[in-house]
Amino acid sequence: MSREHDQTEPVLRIEELSVTFFVRQSLFRTRPVHAVSGVSLVLSLGETVAVVGESGSGKTTLGRATLHLAPISAGRVIFEGTDIGELEGKELMSFRQRAQVIFQDPFSSLSPYMRVGELVAEPLAIHGPKDREEQHQRVLAALEQVKLSPAEEFVEQYPHTLSGGQRQRVSIARAMVLDPDYLVADEPVSMIDASSRAEILYLLAELRAQGELTFLYITHDLASARHFADRIAVMYAGRIVELAPSAQLVDEPRHPYTKALLAAVPEPDPANRLHERPVVGGEPPDAADLPAGCAFAPRCPAAISGVCEVQVPPLIQLDDGHEVACHLYPAGDSIGDSTGEPASESVSSAAATKGSSASG
Ligand SMILES: Nc1ncnc2c1ncn2[C@@H]1O[C@H](COP(=O)(O)OP(=O)(O)OP(=O)(O)O)[C@@H](O)[C@H]1O
Ligand code: SF4
Ligand SMILES: [Mg+2]
Repeated sequence: MSREHDQTEPVLRIEELSVTFFVRQSLFRTRPVHAVSGVSLVLSLGETVAVVGESGSGKTTLGRATLHLAPISAGRVIFEGTDIGELEGKELMSFRQRAQVIFQDPFSSLSPYMRVGELVAEPLAIHGPKDREEQHQRVLAALEQVKLSPAEEFVEQYPHTLSGGQRQRVSIARAMVLDPDYLVADEPVSMIDASSRAEILYLLAELRAQGELTFLYITHDLASARHFADRIAVMYAGRIVELAPSAQLVDEPRHPYTKALLAAVPEPDPANRLHERPVVGGEPPDAADLPAGCAFAPRCPAAISGVCEVQVPPLIQLDDGHEVACHLYPAGDSIGDSTGEPASESVSSAAATKGSSASG
């Protein structure tokens, strides 16, 4: 797998990807857990796509599958023209060098028995230069890159002597020391103190700007996704239900679930704190027991009786480039015209009879 990149090719092409786990139910029975179902997504060179959604929606599994770390049940992940499912031996090692991950928890992801220098050098032992001095210089450069400076002082320290933010910087240095082309950051700031979060996100943005890094940013937090990503993909029950440029998605959400997520974001303006904010009730479904049709239907205030609980809505492209999977925006002209407005009167009245509240 070469480092040459064809500028016309997307870096990553996820095609109809499904990941199903089989969990043991009894001695002789397993049951399928549909963690990711039919996801398609393309990431261009240097692009950042945020994946947002509630707990259990499949964000981590999607990210892991793009790194060859979760079993692909159906579909493909194409990295720079190569199906990663077919990689083995040296080709797989080369891919592992070029595609890296930053995990959520900087406390458990770093061995407490290794010094910072050893932790950052570890990936180099497999994929990097064999010369010890060259390795050492790469480690120092990676530590300086993540602003653990002076690096010579940090290499001798153990993780327990560092703050949460500093530990996450060590994790980032471990990922960056191999100069990757593709990075998955799985909730990289959710477990560190609030004061360090903005700094870490700023650092990630800086690293992205230094090279042509393609980024999958996994988060619960729509506000940081809007700030950090070029596009946002909203996941619900293993599927992408809405995909659009970040500002467009946050300012003009189309899917009832996205509207509900945005409604739950705290109001930054204290003057508006007392305004009633609509929030959708209920729990996300169990991936081992998904409802038929649209998985959001049991919670959706706009659900169309006789349609939503029967048919899975496909992800369709609206005229403004926004993509949405919802029967309120049908692909054909049977109910609406895909202009970006919810379709017909019959749909609106169906929603009204259910008492729509997630209008964002
Ligand atoms: N190795 C596994 N074996 C069985 N089920 C799994 C496995 N990994 C994930 N799952 C299930 O797949 C579904 C999606 O999980 P995933 O961790 O991808 O969600 P998530 O969106 O990252 O959630 P969170 O926000 O809590 O991190 C969940 O129902 C989870 O229990
Ligand atoms: S209107 Fe129907 S398809 Fe759209 S989110 Fe609600 S339940 Fe799902
Ligand atoms: Mg997760």
